[in-house]
Amino acid sequence: MTNQLYYGDNLEVLRKYIPDESIDLCYIDPPFNSKRNYNQIYNNIGTEDKAQAQAFTDTWTWDDIAIAGYNEIVSGGNPLFTIQCVELMKGLKMVLGTGSILAYLVSMAQRIAEIYRVLKPTGSFYLHCDPTASHYLKILIDSIFCSNRYGELRNELVWCYSRMAAKGQKQLSRCHDIIFWYSKGKTWQFNVDAIRLPYAEGSKARAGYKKTNLGGGKPASEICELNEIGKFPEDWVQIPFIRGNEYLGYPTQKPLKLLERIIKASSNEGDTILDAYCGCGTSIAVAQRLNRRWIGIDITYQSISVILKRLSDTFGSEVANSVALSGIPKDLEAAKALALKKDDRLRKEFEKWAVLTYSNNKARINDKKGADGGIDGIAQILIGIENRVHIEDRVLFSVKSGKITLAMVRDFCHVVNRENAAIGIFITLEEPTKPMLKEAKEQGTYTNPLNGQQYPKVEIVTINEILQGKRLQLPQAMEVLKTATKQKDKGKELGF
Ligand SMILES: C[S@@+](CC[C@H](N)C(=O)[O-])C[C@H]1O[C@@H](n2cnc3c(N)ncnc32)[C@H](O)[C@@H]1O
Repeated sequence: MTNQLYYGDNLEVLRKYIPDESIDLCYIDPPFNSKRNYNQIYNNIGTEDKAQAQAFTDTWTWDDIAIAGYNEIVSGGNPLFTIQCVELMKGLKMVLGTGSILAYLVSMAQRIAEIYRVLKPTGSFYLHCDPTASHYLKILIDSIFCSNRYGELRNELVWCYSRMAAKGQKQLSRCHDIIFWYSKGKTWQFNVDAIRLPYAEGSKARAGYKKTNLGGGKPASEICELNEIGKFPEDWVQIPFIRGNEYLGYPTQKPLKLLERIIKASSNEGDTILDAYCGCGTSIAVAQRLNRRWIGIDITYQSISVILKRLSDTFGSEVANSVALSGIPKDLEAAKALALKKDDRLRKEFEKWAVLTYSNNKARINDKKGADGGIDGIAQILIGIENRVHIEDRVLFSVKSGKITLAMVRDFCHVVNRENAAIGIFITLEEPTKPMLKEAKEQGTYTNPLNGQQYPKVEIVTINEILQGKRLQLPQAMEVLKTATKQKDKGKELGF
């Protein structure tokens, strides 16, 4: 099996492409806005504080998708939703009301049921969350995994880290995440020796001493060997938040060491790992490093773009090029389908895909629109360094998925000039007319001060051209995505 990266909604991908009982280990780290006030979640029956809940409700709203999901679960038509799951959902609706938290739990129930289906009978499921929703998620997973089946909660793992307290904070600092580990069947993988941690100095000697004196009959040499391997792993682990080279600029990125522990504990070389919310690909990088096969799914093109770059930087371009990519538009029909998606979030993905693909992942997506006059992406060109500060020229991108007019092209030219940008790229699904091309050409050229090379000031690029392989060759473009550190010698601990 080739390693696979799917760009799309994991529910759709799971249902369409991932066969029953094909996965050895599934790890997921779904998004959840934990800054939201706990009481607000619990007492949200119709009275949501819009401002506070904004970030959360951006993702989870009680909308048509949530209602359809709820109805699918409670209709009883899908055996993956056990009676316990159905009754739990009805109960949660009564207690929580129809708000963002129920929408979140409906979405999770649909996906966890599919994950249960795709796991092998010996498979393990790890769900990473934080204390804001962990209690709801635990009963939800119980209802799918443990009802009338062999599924069982193996451990509730705690990942501890340190964090600076906020000024005037009136409660204890929240310094841990929760990771549930469930097994599906009667037997499961647990490679205890692979994840033993070294004994602290002193306790090593004490452990040896106790064993010898318990009279268990173990020869001294065996005790020594045991001590060399390390202590029996516990259900909590202290790993600092990512810093330095490991951080790729992905806000929710998890530490490699944490994923190393999970993947080593619950899988073997050659096993298949699934991460259905793969973000910047931490689990994928670890799976690749540990010779596991892997499948990653993410709904944002930024994630896919970061992962491909991460694989290429860490393991070489052959590894990145060998990944089977699905869901990424390969022809005009697929690009149009993405541009015309009903779901607002997915439709925005069209713009991101166009900007990142055409810029060879060198641009950054502009999330703050409005005042920026429709700028969808920005890239930088390094033109010098003064007092250790980079001096940059800017490239602006605008993407149009619908009908385009000459006025739109003129407006964009105006924005490029007003913003003092070096280059403007107008990406369009529709073919431009001659007057549009003329308008762009009349803007003249940009000369790069470092190499004297000339570039059109404003260029109209069609999606068709991007699909044919046309790319922006930026002069000395600043790397927008940080570079992942190259893989160190095989066999060493994860240094990446
Ligand atoms: C918390 S992040 C995962 C971070 C990841 N563990 C890492 O270390 O990089 C959650 C990811 O889930 C993705 N996501 C959210 N909803 C999704 C869906 N329905 N299908 C697939 N991916 C989704 C988001 O785009 C985001 O990248």
